[in-house]
Amino acid sequence: MNNKSFANISMAVIRRLPKYHRYLKELLDKEIYRISSKELSRLIGFTASQIRQDLNCFGGFGQQGYGYNVEELYNEIGKILGLDKTYKLIIIGAGNLGQAIANYTSFEKSGFELLALFDINPKLIGMKIRDIPFRDVDELEQFTLDNHVDIAVVCTPKEFAQGIVDKLNEKNVKGIWNFAPTDLKVPKDIIVENVHLSESLFTLSYLLNEREIENNKQE
Ligand code: NAI
Repeated sequence: MNNKSFANISMAVIRRLPKYHRYLKELLDKEIYRISSKELSRLIGFTASQIRQDLNCFGGFGQQGYGYNVEELYNEIGKILGLDKTYKLIIIGAGNLGQAIANYTSFEKSGFELLALFDINPKLIGMKIRDIPFRDVDELEQFTLDNHVDIAVVCTPKEFAQGIVDKLNEKNVKGIWNFAPTDLKVPKDIIVENVHLSESLFTLSYLLNEREIENNKQE
């Protein structure tokens, strides 16, 4: 288990780590065990100096003249990301998005175990996804009192999200993965990570428009 704190590392570096982790896994799957920062740079799309700088924040993993040991780097980044532990999840709001997340088995393989889905819709309550029960949202408060939950995934319409979060027991719920398009107010011990697919989509539409303008200029 990784007990070192990396609190001084910038969030920009932290947000690049999952990408390193993903590419290193692909290398391991191809039985590639050693890679230079130059090759890694070509693969990932970050400059070699960026890669060296990023990994130096954590004490560096490369060896002059050898490059990186892929397995060691993959394991170390996994530890820094906390992926050497397991996490218990619940999903609140079991509609399209909540069910899609529940059906995505890769999270489980990375150590994120889904305990239950909660919803207000009586048609859903009592059903199961992959043996995981849909429960009445009225049971949510008691459930988080009785059970340790690392992460609550909020997938309700935005107008209900704050009310839901207020019901979570702050001693037992450590983090919120928030998909509802609203800024949540939480006690200081709870960490919120917001996800906005639309931000990524709108960045793409910006880039498409920029390219069109450039192409028109060249014609
Ligand atoms: P949906 O309408 O399919 O599902 C919402 C579910 O929440 C329904 O099953 C409904 O019964 C349930 N619900 C409503 N009030 C509730 C309450 N008080 N307690 C518990 N459950 C309740 O909607 P969808 O498409 O799954 O979207 C869910 C949320 O995720 C919305 O806020 C939407 O804006 C957001 N969203 C965010 C994305 C992102 O990238 N952040 C992408 C897609 C959706």
